[in-house]
Amino acid sequence: MSSVYRFPLQHPQYLYPPSKNPYWSKIQALKGLAFTDHETERSPGQWRSKWDNELPPSSRELHVEIGCNAGHVIVEWAKMHPSRSYIGIDWKFKPIFRAVEKSQKQNLKNLIFLRAHAQRLNYIFGPQEVDFLSLFFPDPWPRKSQWKNRLINSENLKQIAQVMKPSGIFHIKTDHPDYFEWILNAVGELPDTWKILEMTRDLHQNHPSPQNLKIPEVTLFEKLFIQAQIPIQSLKLQIIHTP
Ligand SMILES: C[S@@+](CC[C@H](N)C(=O)[O-])C[C@H]1O[C@@H](n2cnc3c(N)ncnc32)[C@H](O)[C@@H]1O
Repeated sequence: MSSVYRFPLQHPQYLYPPSKNPYWSKIQALKGLAFTDHETERSPGQWRSKWDNELPPSSRELHVEIGCNAGHVIVEWAKMHPSRSYIGIDWKFKPIFRAVEKSQKQNLKNLIFLRAHAQRLNYIFGPQEVDFLSLFFPDPWPRKSQWKNRLINSENLKQIAQVMKPSGIFHIKTDHPDYFEWILNAVGELPDTWKILEMTRDLHQNHPSPQNLKIPEVTLFEKLFIQAQIPIQSLKLQIIHTP
């Protein structure tokens, strides 16, 4: 592959390489409903104006889900809250295409999908653009040699903080205790940036029958972990607003 593709993922000059995935061109054809590759980085600070609904852009909350897969949760959220704007992000092509199909079936006007790397969040969004960010069951990359791939570390938490509105909230859920501790350590390295609003190592411990919880209260992966009796760890972070 040409040397123009040599830049690492978080470098300003990173280029998405061309893909042979058949869903690449299918997503490109979904004008306005989904974006892929560098098209996802053409609207920082302007995502709210992509939706034309009854509320002016500035009074609409922007909710973003990283790792939305085929949109199971975010489609339901968008249905429940038509006055909010939603963006689902995943790096896989086919799930993003399926997510758009779901959204179209429901005729949702407040939801867009991005096929993009979450490591590019600060190129996708402008400063203080996002009200609420979710990351549910990120790949834990369990082996030491893989830790470098973990999405959450203190460097990325700094970048994510830049796109969050003052008082914006970042909700993380994982089934993986080591990754959870790793995330808590990363947050601890930034005591002036994020504060912990809520934290639990067993989210559903007080629920009488968590296996009956439904999407969007739980995600697709969360349902599997609940069935396997694996505790869900949950963390809600809030940006510390410095006046
Ligand atoms: C374990 S699945 C969880 C899916 C969903 N959030 C749930 O809870 O059912 C992780 C998802 O994150 C996506 N993903 C992993 N790393 C990503 C990254 N760096 N950028 C965007 N999406 C990513 C995967 O493609 C996958 O859909």
